[in-house]
Amino acid sequence: MTHRALAVFALFSVAFAQQPKYDNANELLRPEGYREWVFVGSNLGIGYSDDPKEGSFKNIFIQPEMYQAYKRTGKFPDKTMLVMEVFTPGEKRPPAKVGKFEDKFRGIEVALKDESKFPEKWAYFNFIGANGPLEKARAFPKESCWNCHNQHASVDNVFVQFYPALRDLPAPAATTDERVYRIGGGVSAPRLIGKKEPEYSEEARKAKVNSTVVMTLVVGTDGTPRDFKILKQSGFGLDEQAIQAVRDTWRFEPAKKDGAPVNVMATVEVNMRLLNKDYEGQTVRLTFDGPNRPELVKGQMPVNPAASPAHARVELTVTPAGEPINFNVLEASDEKWGKDILREIRTWRFRGTQENAKGVLHITVGAYKKPI
Ligand code: HEC
Repeated sequence: MTHRALAVFALFSVAFAQQPKYDNANELLRPEGYREWVFVGSNLGIGYSDDPKEGSFKNIFIQPEMYQAYKRTGKFPDKTMLVMEVFTPGEKRPPAKVGKFEDKFRGIEVALKDESKFPEKWAYFNFIGANGPLEKARAFPKESCWNCHNQHASVDNVFVQFYPALRDLPAPAATTDERVYRIGGGVSAPRLIGKKEPEYSEEARKAKVNSTVVMTLVVGTDGTPRDFKILKQSGFGLDEQAIQAVRDTWRFEPAKKDGAPVNVMATVEVNMRLLNKDYEGQTVRLTFDGPNRPELVKGQMPVNPAASPAHARVELTVTPAGEPINFNVLEASDEKWGKDILREIRTWRFRGTQENAKGVLHITVGAYKKPI
């Protein structure tokens, strides 16, 4: 099971724990069925005053799902309930001659963590009425219960120090760090351990486009990439192809910090290369403003007629009918090459979008290679 799947599973199971129920006046209804929860400990006669009157027996229970979550994480999840049932001690009931047993059931007290209801997260309730157990109870003010629990309990607000089933648990494995780090300063780079080359888009293959898609992504602690963002677009459908290949086939050894896997943000360049000598040294990008991208359906990238590499940057608008108009050479390595490009673009046809789409073509071509 992967880490992520495990995390999802943990959330899921906590959601199944018995939930606190309130009435319309926000009073807590007495939790039922707690004797089938996990029994964490008992005590006899613990009192908080110096009054030496005979104390009660108490048994403490927690929802099983919360017990598991605490065991795994060392933390009490939201909606954790601890029920403490209280008994008056009895003695000398035959055949017992000495010792005490839990005799008359008096009722329960409840410690509840409900972060959305109580600003102090934990609230305390007493269902022991003067004339027997109560159906519902109102949270005590902070001074009555919360203060002492918060000050003296060993874990969060819970007196784990008195409960063997919680106290004796082994320390949970280091909790997973959900933060996303940058590489460097003690954070190693993730290592690529498997990948497949992206498929070419039909459009880029026909148009004879080489390009490099640059993206950022997060490599998770399980070595799978996610949260892709294109930094440098290629157009021609190549960005989508690059993301798909990386998402589906690239796998990493996760980055590490202090020996433990962590999430990192990484920049990845995906080279899209045609195995075609005529287009060696070529890089093309065609990007449009806005979300709609006209698709090139007819036309090819020109090859360099000159002996040295050339580049150009050209503005153009594609009409809804798919015709390129309003060309403008923003930059060209030489005038003739700029004109060659324009002549070429005029012959291109696109599958237009609903509105005019304004775009920029960046093209760099390698030196012309004379056939030997
Ligand atoms: C002076 C300190 C103190 C005050 C005040 C106090 N408690 Fe506690 N409470 C304890 C101690 C110690 C334990 C663990 C031992 C025991 O009594 O079982 C505990 C345990 C509990 C538990 C079992 C779960 C847990 O959190 O460990 C409940 C439920 C509880 N108290 C309810 C209450 C309620 C309701 C009040 C207010 C009316 C209250 N307590 C006030 C000290 C205090």
